[in-house]
Amino acid sequence: MLPCPDEIRTERLILRRWREEDLPLYARLNADEHVMRFFFKTRNHEESDTEARWLNERFSLDGFGPWAVEAPGLASFIGFVGCWRIVRELPFTPAVEIGWRLDQPYWGKGYAVEAARVALRDVFDRTDLAEIVAYTAQQNEPSRRVMEKLGMTHDGAADFDHPAVPEGHPLRRSVLYRISRQAFAATDPS
Ligand SMILES: CC(C)(COP(=O)(O)OP(=O)(O)OC[C@H]1O[C@@H](n2cnc3c(N)ncnc32)[C@H](O)[C@@H]1OP(=O)(O)O)[C@@H](O)C(=O)NCCC(=O)NCCS
Repeated sequence: MLPCPDEIRTERLILRRWREEDLPLYARLNADEHVMRFFFKTRNHEESDTEARWLNERFSLDGFGPWAVEAPGLASFIGFVGCWRIVRELPFTPAVEIGWRLDQPYWGKGYAVEAARVALRDVFDRTDLAEIVAYTAQQNEPSRRVMEKLGMTHDGAADFDHPAVPEGHPLRRSVLYRISRQAFAATDPS
């Protein structure tokens, strides 16, 4: 695998490693009930800090990771977007997933797709992975729209009940999307 860049720049964003200063902003985002409405629970400050450090460690463990996203001139940290190896055993693992979580003021601007596209391109360029997946609670339409705009395909036969969400909970049913290296290359304008 080729070495991971320190950052990736897009037209409007910088994808970079996490910094300590991001942690309070990430904690605020993780405590926001609306941002977290499709998650089983919000995160308290300590859980959020632990998660941020875990996400940043993915870069050294996997050789790629969920980037801290900066919107130059607007905000030093708006959330994260990127890929990591799924560590939990799920019906479709082993697999690498792509995920995203942005703060509310930065929704509706195309930032998630802009960042996700370069994150996918980076991983497909530097690894020999054949496919990247994404999953979310089936009701999470905004996240599903991002997956679809990236050219990911819903694999309905692989939808599953998330083991970390209690039985009977409305967010337990999860949908799985996939994108192959070839499918991404066909949609990627660069
Ligand atoms: C999922 C999430 C990242 C999606 O964010 P988003 O801003 O809706 O996603 P996009 O980057 O695709 O932005 C798309 C919107 O920006 C609009 N937009 C405005 N300017 C744009 C531009 N210059 N380029 C592209 N789109 C633009 C589009 O019309 C689109 O609106 P639509 O989806 O209503 O049609 C966000 O809702 C989020 O962080 N949710 C909470 C965390 C979460 O659920 N994460 C996923 C868990 S698996």
